[in-house]
Amino acid sequence: MIPVTPLANERPSALATEISERLNAAIREHLLSAFAPDNSKTLRSFSAPETAELLGVSGQFMRKVHAEGTLPEPEDIRGGRRYYAAQEIWDAREILEKTSRKKGRYMPRRSGEEKLQIWQLMNFKGGSSKSTTSVHLAHYFALRGYRVLALDLDPQGSLTSMCGISPEIEFDGLTVYDAIRYDDPVSMADVVVQTYFPGLSIAPSRLMLSEFETESAVHSNPDQPFFTRIRNALAQVEDDFDIVLMDSPPQLGFLTIAGMAAASSLIVPLTPSMLDVSSTAQFLELAGAYMGVIEDAGASLQYDFFKFLITRDEPTDVPSQQLTSFMRALFQDRVMSATALKSTAISDATMLKQSIYEVVRSEMTRATYDRAKGSMDAVGLEVETMIHQSWGRK
Ligand SMILES: Nc1ncnc2c1ncn2[C@@H]1O[C@H](COP(=O)(O)OP(=O)(O)O)[C@@H](O)[C@H]1O
Ligand SMILES: [Mg+2]
Repeated sequence: MIPVTPLANERPSALATEISERLNAAIREHLLSAFAPDNSKTLRSFSAPETAELLGVSGQFMRKVHAEGTLPEPEDIRGGRRYYAAQEIWDAREILEKTSRKKGRYMPRRSGEEKLQIWQLMNFKGGSSKSTTSVHLAHYFALRGYRVLALDLDPQGSLTSMCGISPEIEFDGLTVYDAIRYDDPVSMADVVVQTYFPGLSIAPSRLMLSEFETESAVHSNPDQPFFTRIRNALAQVEDDFDIVLMDSPPQLGFLTIAGMAAASSLIVPLTPSMLDVSSTAQFLELAGAYMGVIEDAGASLQYDFFKFLITRDEPTDVPSQQLTSFMRALFQDRVMSATALKSTAISDATMLKQSIYEVVRSEMTRATYDRAKGSMDAVGLEVETMIHQSWGRK
């Protein structure tokens, strides 16, 4: 139980500080009990059928390569069943790739002329599922053997905390801000950190990042305008990644626009409600105007894909289905075919700062889990297909 004492301050400034201190202390204690003892996130292991699915092989094939000794046994075998750590799946990709006749069959990462994929999720409506979609895509791709960078452009740091770093508390490391600030920026390589999730790195954010909004408003260095700064920072770590997923703040400020100038493709997630659809119309009107302004200032914007994604989709809710049909009629294939279904499996997982991929199937109602994971997989696969198109793969 939390001992509750009345708040002591009445002056708004002191009151706000007191509330924030009390909240932070409570979060710290809550997190410590949730992620004891070292307060760090870890990733579950994956069953043999899940592993076979991720590797795109049959269970029989897995048993064969283990029997032949091509693939070492996983460390965790319980009751005759194999459980694989994500790192073991990652290592298995390397081993199997060497034995495979089709290049890239197990290690699908980019090569040769294939360009770094920079996907931005943006919409100024809060709650449109930007951060949830970002983390699910990040996990989808990391589990499939791509080198993923999650780039958090939201000073609130939702994506950062999903990646196991709590911006509210212990974290005082470098952030995206340090790589894009105007005075004495650091190298992006120093900002990017590997997460507990093999294949996934994060360029973290915290409140400090909002300084970029303030500084960009007063700064006018024509050699290094604001809209070049994220692109330039990403160029410094380009060789280490296949896919960058940029989460955006719920506003159309300098950070979001600098993201747009770096992106190679855009996804605008929106929930099928009248308010969201009309606010998205305003968002795109503004975005269009700003894109024009930075293009006039010398930015060249070019997107391989510019798509809408319906999020928190409710197939049994008639008004929302009407809106979804309306969007599809207006914009055809600009609206992704896959939708992210609204599911308690997703909201429960995100409460624990997890994606559906981190949840063990047997810990949830199976049908609920399967429906949610199936929907996230479909969104991931559709983005993966677009990425392969961008790379010119068949
Ligand atoms: N598919 C979904 N099903 C159920 N809840 C969802 C789903 N996607 C997002 N949510 C919930 O909606 C809220 C807002 O999502 P979030 O990703 O933080 O939006 P944004 O980043 O656009 O502000 C979160 O509490 C999240 O748990
Ligand atoms: Mg968010």
